[in-house]
Amino acid sequence: MFPVQMLSRLGALARRFASRWSQRRRCSDSRVAPVRYSANRRVGVLSLVLLLPSLGLGANAPELPLYADRASDLDLAVTGLLAGADPGARRYARWSDLARLPKTKLRLAGEFGPGEQEVTVVFLSDLWAALPVQGGADTLLATCSDGYAAVYLTTFIRDYRPFLVLEINGQGPEKWPPAGLRFNPGPYVLSVAASVVPSVAELIDAGHKRPWGVTTLEIARLESRFGALFGGPWARAGEVVRQGRELWIHSCASCHRGPAEVFGGTKSDRPFALLAAQARGAPDYFRRYIIDPKGLVPTAKMEAHPHYTEAQLDALTAFVALGVAP
Ligand code: HEC
Repeated sequence: MFPVQMLSRLGALARRFASRWSQRRRCSDSRVAPVRYSANRRVGVLSLVLLLPSLGLGANAPELPLYADRASDLDLAVTGLLAGADPGARRYARWSDLARLPKTKLRLAGEFGPGEQEVTVVFLSDLWAALPVQGGADTLLATCSDGYAAVYLTTFIRDYRPFLVLEINGQGPEKWPPAGLRFNPGPYVLSVAASVVPSVAELIDAGHKRPWGVTTLEIARLESRFGALFGGPWARAGEVVRQGRELWIHSCASCHRGPAEVFGGTKSDRPFALLAAQARGAPDYFRRYIIDPKGLVPTAKMEAHPHYTEAQLDALTAFVALGVAP
């Protein structure tokens, strides 16, 4: 399905897990006292016919009420291809309504600090089924308070069963961070676990499917939201370039945005055209930066990708290099 993503990288993952709390998942603590916004206005209940999930999962899940106005910092913003909503419109789901969706308790080791934590979760398949998803949508995009982003295709949601964390050790996000954790992972965390689906351990960059500080979910169609990367110089991409694009979307786009309006995180301020110029004109630098940014630039903030194979670096370089007109 995602051959590049599936390559077994257990050792690298173990290293990444070990340093996970201190690195990427840091997010600014935006959870100040709840702000009062204008009065709650329930957006009309949308037809169940429009809810039919393309996933074929959770078809009987209850509908999630969405509101036009934010009532709390703990509301989850939902946008994108929502039936009955204007393009670009933002709706808000309340924590208490999310907690009425089908819930599961999981025991996760080391997810939120040392030791085991019991977490209450809603699987994204059930969340997707409870949202008024427009036909053709195939992707859930998460954005975080610190500019980090994550991409979940519905096939990924089906196969790897990612979930939304509502409680850690029985406590909701108003009580976060849990004891022993320096950074507040709220308002929402998405994650995957090998204890739920063993093949999660084989994902090349599972960390990118575990964002903290998630504030917004967008329902999208992958080939539209990443449209530019499927047209222009990339329209007739061969197998190697396609693999590079897949790595880009599922890993690099967590921090890199572009070209133009293509979805991605904002942790990197480097324009796509600069990366493309590097991939074309200085491919050795480009490759080394991916593997070990600090080795090249001591102040680099980008995380290292020492687990990438030569073939994966070839694919990324070939893909990104096309971003500059010949
Ligand atoms: C965790 C966030 C993050 C991820 C994931 C990430 N980057 Fe970066 N990247 C950055 C940031 C931040 C910068 C800006 C320079 C810096 O501080 O390292 C950057 C800069 C770069 C640069 C430019 C270096 C320069 O000379 O300015 C390249 C090339 C690059 N990234 C490639 C990639 C590729 C390819 C991937 C996917 C394999 C990737 N990055 C994944 C955060 C990230």
